[in-house]
Amino acid sequence: MNFKKNILCIGAGYVGGPTMAMIAHKCPQYKVTVVDINPVRIAEWNSDHLPIFEPGLDEIVKNIRGRNLFFSTEIEKGIQEANIIFVSVNTPTKTFGAGNGMAADLQYWEKTARQILKSAKSSKIIIEKSTLPVKTAQAMERILTHNHQKIHFDVLSNPEFLAEGTAIRDLENPDRVLIGSHQTPDGIKARDELVEIYANWIPPKNIITSDIWSSELSKLVSNAFLAQRISSINTISALCEKTDANVTDVARAVGMDHRIGNRFLNASVGFGGSCFKKDILNLVYLCRNYGLHEVADYWQGVVNINEYQKERFVLNMLAAMFNTLAGKRICLFGFAFKADTGDTRESPAFFIANRLIEEKVELVITDPKALKNAKNDLDEFKEEVSFVEDPYKAASGCHAIAILTEWVLYQNLDFEKIYRSMLKPAFIFDGRNIIDHQKVFEIGFNVYPVGKPSLTHF
Ligand code: UDX
Ligand code: UDX
Repeated sequence: MNFKKNILCIGAGYVGGPTMAMIAHKCPQYKVTVVDINPVRIAEWNSDHLPIFEPGLDEIVKNIRGRNLFFSTEIEKGIQEANIIFVSVNTPTKTFGAGNGMAADLQYWEKTARQILKSAKSSKIIIEKSTLPVKTAQAMERILTHNHQKIHFDVLSNPEFLAEGTAIRDLENPDRVLIGSHQTPDGIKARDELVEIYANWIPPKNIITSDIWSSELSKLVSNAFLAQRISSINTISALCEKTDANVTDVARAVGMDHRIGNRFLNASVGFGGSCFKKDILNLVYLCRNYGLHEVADYWQGVVNINEYQKERFVLNMLAAMFNTLAGKRICLFGFAFKADTGDTRESPAFFIANRLIEEKVELVITDPKALKNAKNDLDEFKEEVSFVEDPYKAASGCHAIAILTEWVLYQNLDFEKIYRSMLKPAFIFDGRNIIDHQKVFEIGFNVYPVGKPSLTHF
């Protein structure tokens, strides 16, 4: 079949995979190829067991794979055939040198730029999909224009706003698609080619454009604002616990003001995921770099509160369980950083597991989708941790349960049965406020929600 254009995506991760699946699904006239340096990942994308769990993704991929969606390790060939290249490689926080622990580690990203330059034999549009510090597109451009052939590259920024667990819904019906380009005739022509792709399913009013730097910055700022809401409500949860107020009631009253809105106001054990912390630290680093120390301190506070919230959760457990956790058996309900994903990157559960192990707890971890990743993350603690798929078996014989991921399945468990199988007094720490606290209290549990009075039998 003759395709209108060839699209390539470098990086078959949580962002690249689902995004390209949606483009291929909505645009049968384009051939979409996703490449990755990791052959295991590519083999998984080509198998019956996709490397990531995302509701609705399996159906789409299985329908169009081999038709206009392809997964491959042949990066060079992919680059040569492509008219349009999305770059969606990971950009972790640096763990060395200048900006250690703060700045983005751009080595993969730069390697990718150089590989495009080395392999390309014709002009192409390069689209930055990874979240990067502002002005990285400029660096990409500088690498790409430094060539002796007569090839022209247009670099665009097109940040991804999908959230894991709802990626397919977010891709199908995004609040907005943002495309940053140079305001030159070439830049605008490249931008319009990308607009044409999205226009296959997204209404024109939802496709917005800007200059490249503003587009890059918008992604960092969106994530910083979202995370800031969670840290804000989490500070209030601490106050509510001291004063016997109820954070859910406060959030409801506050969120009904249309100017504020009711979403992203759930107090929790803390936010996780690959983006929030990394992107805020990038923003902080950027501000420091420009001498804006007050601005940097303001955003650093969002991350600090998140660390405080996770630590507070552990200290609450310790205080409730008679100031000693050593030798106690505690079951973590959920290890994913949020529901409907198997992803555990930056999960608050990882921090809490580590802290509980420090307190000499015997841990049992259960999760419907994230046990494989949990096992990898906690590989060094084989003695201290066991992994049990069935939540009833996991909780049996434990002193306490800590709910760390908001899986719906935990709301519908038979807590009477669980209570009977546990050691007494039995404790539940609900780090997501998802179960019926009064009901489990009446069953016999001592219940500790986030930001609400505890319900105890003592
Ligand atoms: C990544 C970034 O973390 C995020 O900031 C950005 O917005 C999108 O890309 P994600 O897709 O979740 O997010 O990352 P990950 O699942 O780690 O996928 C990146 C993929 O790129 C990996 O499969 C990795 O093997 C691949 N990769 C990395 C390459 O193909 N080439 C490289 O040089 C480096
Ligand atoms: C986020 C952004 O939402 C998305 O737009 C961006 O592209 C990538 O980063 P993601 O990390 O996948 O997406 O998940 P998100 O739904 O934002 O949740 C992040 C964390 O915040 C999770 O740990 C979640 O449990 C937590 N959270 C969310 C709360 O603790 N309370 C809330 O009210 C909402």
